[in-house]
Amino acid sequence: MGRCPACGEWNTMVEEKVETGGPVSRRSGENSVGSSSRPLSLAEIDSSAESRTTLESAEMDRLLGGGIVEGSLVLIAGEPGIGKSTLSLQIPLHCRGLRTLYVTGEESARQVKLRAARLGGDSEGCLIYSETLMENIMSEARRIMPDLMIVDSIQTVYTQTMESSPGSVSQIKECASMLLRLAKETGIPVILIGHITKEGSIAGPKVLEHIVDVVLQFEGDNTGAYRLLRSIKNRFGSTAEMAVFEMTGCGLREVSNPSEMLIPMHGQGLSGIAVSAMLDGSRSFLIEVQSLVSSAAYGTPQRSATGFDVRRLNMLLAVLEKRAGFRLGVKDVFLNMAGGLRVSDPACDLAVICAVLSSNFDFAIPSDVCFAGEVGLSGEIRPVSQTERRVAEAARLGFRTIFISSFGAVPPAVLEQHKDLEIVRVPDVPALCRILFRQK
Ligand code: TYD
Ligand code: MG
Repeated sequence: MGRCPACGEWNTMVEEKVETGGPVSRRSGENSVGSSSRPLSLAEIDSSAESRTTLESAEMDRLLGGGIVEGSLVLIAGEPGIGKSTLSLQIPLHCRGLRTLYVTGEESARQVKLRAARLGGDSEGCLIYSETLMENIMSEARRIMPDLMIVDSIQTVYTQTMESSPGSVSQIKECASMLLRLAKETGIPVILIGHITKEGSIAGPKVLEHIVDVVLQFEGDNTGAYRLLRSIKNRFGSTAEMAVFEMTGCGLREVSNPSEMLIPMHGQGLSGIAVSAMLDGSRSFLIEVQSLVSSAAYGTPQRSATGFDVRRLNMLLAVLEKRAGFRLGVKDVFLNMAGGLRVSDPACDLAVICAVLSSNFDFAIPSDVCFAGEVGLSGEIRPVSQTERRVAEAARLGFRTIFISSFGAVPPAVLEQHKDLEIVRVPDVPALCRILFRQK
């Protein structure tokens, strides 16, 4: 049907296949995992640990919770051009002896070969299969029985049992459930690649999220060199994990020390810059917060933030105005997190405030000072989680001073351990300003 009789829009109808055949037929539903035949008591179920295969990449293994689990379905999602194909082709090339079936529907086998040559590594054991019809892919997978299967991408494969075109919601769902059944029945781990649009919803990986076991999502802009891979769902591990990669001329390089994103690309003594000791998942690292404050040229001042919540920025500016008496209401404020990172750790509040004030007064904060603290509505500086780890990271990178809240307790062992790092404990924003900008 071309036109929807309900809303009158054209080409919005989507085919859903309805199976008939009485109550005994098994529906090709989303989570039909294998063919477990009867209900079992919990005691009867085998609880031995899942067997995992290492992907010879410390960061990928950590993201997955210690290697890829046998029979699991992993989705790697991200915007086009961010490096999904590169990452997934790097896995077989770096894993000696891992027999991999790489199904490419997006690029020709020749293109994949050219990329593999660029990435280097050991191409033995990696089979490239240029095919988009699911029925053929399934039968090849069952014949070859590889150790790992990669499908690039879910939007290009299709099954004959549906008439809709590849990439439509019903095709994506059906193909994903076919792959899920294959994974659960044969134990082959399957990595699926899915494109995501800026909005992240259109016929894309969002509909897959509840079908697959693990969702790894690429973040960061694909023009910069750094790419973040975040685990947003993991049935076999923690979801608080993230890994940083750098796109180089020969593939993605693991950045095992994310603080290197901080490497100053400017001289000393610039105003508007503050360093935050932040935590993302289980990683602690330091990130540069940059701010620019200028007189508003037009009536309404502008507030814009990249990588930080604008509403939170507005709140922090209101705190500065009301609790510390800074007249920022007539200023434009721009905020940027270095490296294209999206930050949600409240401990960055303190660095944001300091960057804004630094730019406002054109007063540079010394480059060996960093901050970790949450700012409350009454201007108080609140303690943040895992202060010891933030302090340790700052000390490791040679920072001399870290500002934290005076309300949380710092274990004496931490103070002992980092003698070169001065830990300054401040109760509220006015006190912080007095210490930091005392020369003013
Ligand atoms: P790609 O993995 O094809 O992205 P996706 O599959 O997510 O769409 O590659 C992304 C970009 O990375 C592409 O613009 C080219 C670039 N690139 C490099 O800079 N170095 C490399 O070694 C490779 C293979 C790609
Ligand atoms: Mg690709």
